[in-house]
Amino acid sequence: MNTIDNQMLVIFGASGDLTARKLIPALFALFKGGNLPENFLVLGASRSDLSDQEFRDKVVQNSPYFKKYGKKETKRILDSFMDKLFYQDLGDSYDVEYGKLASRINSLAAQYNTQGNCIFYLSTPPNMYEVIARNLSEQNLANQKDGWKRLIVEKPFGYSLSTAKALNTGLQKYFEESQIYRIDHYLGKETVQNLLVTRFANSIFEPLWNRNYIEHVEITNAESVGVEKRGGYYDKSGALRDMFQNHLMQIVSLIVMEPPIDDKAEAIRDEKVKALKSIRIMKDEAVLYQNTIRGQYLSSDLMGEKVLGYREEPGVANDSTTETYAAVKFYVDNWRWKDVPFYVRTAKRMPTKVTEVVIHFKSPHHHIFSQSGVIDKDNKLIIRIQPDEGILMKFGVKVPGQGFKVERANLEFYYDDLAETTLMTAYERLLLDAMQGDPTLYARADEVEAAWAFVDPILDYWKNGKDVITYGYSAGVWGPQNANDLFNGKYSWRNPGALLGEDPGFCVIS
Ligand code: BG6
Repeated sequence: MNTIDNQMLVIFGASGDLTARKLIPALFALFKGGNLPENFLVLGASRSDLSDQEFRDKVVQNSPYFKKYGKKETKRILDSFMDKLFYQDLGDSYDVEYGKLASRINSLAAQYNTQGNCIFYLSTPPNMYEVIARNLSEQNLANQKDGWKRLIVEKPFGYSLSTAKALNTGLQKYFEESQIYRIDHYLGKETVQNLLVTRFANSIFEPLWNRNYIEHVEITNAESVGVEKRGGYYDKSGALRDMFQNHLMQIVSLIVMEPPIDDKAEAIRDEKVKALKSIRIMKDEAVLYQNTIRGQYLSSDLMGEKVLGYREEPGVANDSTTETYAAVKFYVDNWRWKDVPFYVRTAKRMPTKVTEVVIHFKSPHHHIFSQSGVIDKDNKLIIRIQPDEGILMKFGVKVPGQGFKVERANLEFYYDDLAETTLMTAYERLLLDAMQGDPTLYARADEVEAAWAFVDPILDYWKNGKDVITYGYSAGVWGPQNANDLFNGKYSWRNPGALLGEDPGFCVIS
């Protein structure tokens, strides 16, 4: 197990939603599990005028995310956890002189003996990231002479390739690349990491993991919710920026990558970057037209309830063409993947919440049982990332009786079946890794830029291209009517069931 130094975590944007919803509950879980160092404290910093006690009340005592705790024993643990939380008001802006903040950090560090080790977590509007890094550096707080310093940066990391590059250069003026941790919470998901283990700790999959045996690869990320209260942010972002450029490209890189030389952070990240750089960038309008589909959800009645269309959501322009559905077909230009199409989609207001990777294997070269209907039923390896994390293999078995009728059977594994295991949430895992100085599950500058390099021309085409259509789809169905056009008639999306083992294809309409 990695060691963990005494340290302080300073959260910028501490009065915001992410702190209360994800960060503090994750820290509490780590505390309860005995994973935090002996000398540890959290200093919240933001533009709200709060005392230490008011901050504790807000993020723990009165927080809806702590409602589930309350029994006597837990109360004791909660109280000692709350003693570790402090707050510093920054005033009206993040762009102020950080003298006061620096003296608070230094005095808390001395009082609680955190040995000068400090993580700065930026959970603020992204245009503040560089500003905060500069102000920290001006107070000598990026300097590692007296204890290490790390910077965790939330998404969105840039709005385009050029803004991501500018942000990288901006942050690297004040912090070394090795100090910067770009968070992508999908990398904290156990099953996303398991993609590496499935591939590289088994000898049954990797020999088949290439163009000789794989017909195509499909990735679906579906959410049943709409944009909720984030219409203002989302309308400027859209599905491609919000989910595809980061979370889905990370998953793609783990499927595409070559075996790393070992499990060290840089070895894995080097291969991921190489994988991302091998994806064929589409620039030609005709190619982009044929290989991308964008859609937007329309109002509908779901389970007896009227659901708003995207344009009716608060904060969304009533003539918005921002996509809530994005599907892209692409190729990877390298030896392993030549001519294997990848189909990747993400969308809101789908029939269910699910993320899964489907590896479709080629049908056998010679069909002995050609009368049995097996030809169109390919072998599949389905890696379910959420909600019911697991792996399912579909393979042919003989139907009992005369002759050789073949049917598909399921071989399933569920993480839940590992009885003694409690899965850490993504934020628990990622925070713990950063505290231990392990950047494996964080995105490196060149990874982020390689992902943007692929996504940028699609965004540009969707914004400025001719013939670009945003298709409507009713909330609660699997996307627009032409969603399967990307497959050119040969296949179609596997619209997953609510549970891994269920047959696909349902939608919720009443
Ligand atoms: C976030 C997106 O990064 O991921 C949200 O901004 C999305 O729009 C969320 O809802 C989905 O995360 P998860 O872990 O629930 O799949």
